[in-house]
Amino acid sequence: MQALAVFPSKKNLQLIDLPHPKLQDATDVLLRVHEVGLCGTDREISSFEYGSPPSGSDHLILGHESLAEIIEVGREVSSFKPGDLVVAMVRRPCPHAECRACRGGRPDFCVTGDFTERGIKGADGFLTEYVVEDQEYLVRVPRVLADVAVLVEPLSVITKAADQARSIFDRLPYDPGLQRGLVLGAGPIGLLCAMALVAEGFEAVVYSRDSEEGKPAELVRSLGADYVSSTRTPIESLAERSGRFDVVLEAVGFAPLMLAATQVLKPNGVLALTGVPPEAATAEVNAGRALRNLVLRNEVIFGTVNAGRRDYLSAIQHLEQFMILFPESVRKLITDRVPLDEVPQLLAHKRGIKSVVEMSRAA
Ligand code: BGC
Repeated sequence: MQALAVFPSKKNLQLIDLPHPKLQDATDVLLRVHEVGLCGTDREISSFEYGSPPSGSDHLILGHESLAEIIEVGREVSSFKPGDLVVAMVRRPCPHAECRACRGGRPDFCVTGDFTERGIKGADGFLTEYVVEDQEYLVRVPRVLADVAVLVEPLSVITKAADQARSIFDRLPYDPGLQRGLVLGAGPIGLLCAMALVAEGFEAVVYSRDSEEGKPAELVRSLGADYVSSTRTPIESLAERSGRFDVVLEAVGFAPLMLAATQVLKPNGVLALTGVPPEAATAEVNAGRALRNLVLRNEVIFGTVNAGRRDYLSAIQHLEQFMILFPESVRKLITDRVPLDEVPQLLAHKRGIKSVVEMSRAA
């Protein structure tokens, strides 16, 4: 069977042939991969800026946003059966006894850094036809979501951020009556976040560099949210145009914007950062003003990465809700469905909002 692998030492991305995998352990499940979504992380890995192969291997099989069907189950698998549609979680725990997060089933909060991530760090991904996975890392998705369920993994990053933001707001000694949310970025994460805010009754604004007449802007407006382009309104003037926000979710990874975003927060507001900027990125900030405001307005900035099982389950619930509220807008997030051999080209030249690789058709 075929797979797409990156060879960092040779600076090469190529299709490889692999033997068909077999169940090893009693809790293993054999999956036929249906679809894999591509994102900025895959682009960084395929340009050799990020990611690492499994230890002892010279290559990493790409792909972490999966949707697959169960073909065969090990003898101790009780929660799944052949025919179930599943999404695999990305992160696997580190081996250290002292890591309470990993030992507690939350490797997304790993403290040692020795976790692995399928298709990203030290573990092969899903851009292949068949994969073996332990049942512990699978989440079942309803068949009615089959054509959009590949969005569950990126959505889980948002449901985790929202869950964290909620607990931060819980510190307030009064009911803040949260109403206004700002999303920075109009990629798949930003647009899914706008959907989540609208679905929760927020007045939502998406801020991005795309024009106010483009497809992302149109999609944002179709949800009942507002769209503001950074080409017309610099972040410094955004509060004047659109007011201030209880919560801001950043999904761009552009360091200067990440640092400037507190300027649009209401007092006691929360800024969630999900974008991963390049390590060498620099930004000029008036540190005095930024820190002064942070303290004097009780603001919180936090970073969030990856997701735990409860966030995946919440993502599935949200996706079901989105498919009732705005099904066409959700479908429009997936702008391309391509075969495996077109992926290298697509990683080099991004097009559309979310590109999805079709590995096999849903039964
Ligand atoms: C993935 C996460 C992962 C993160 C950092 C993102 O693209 O969606 O699952 O933890 O990259 O590697």
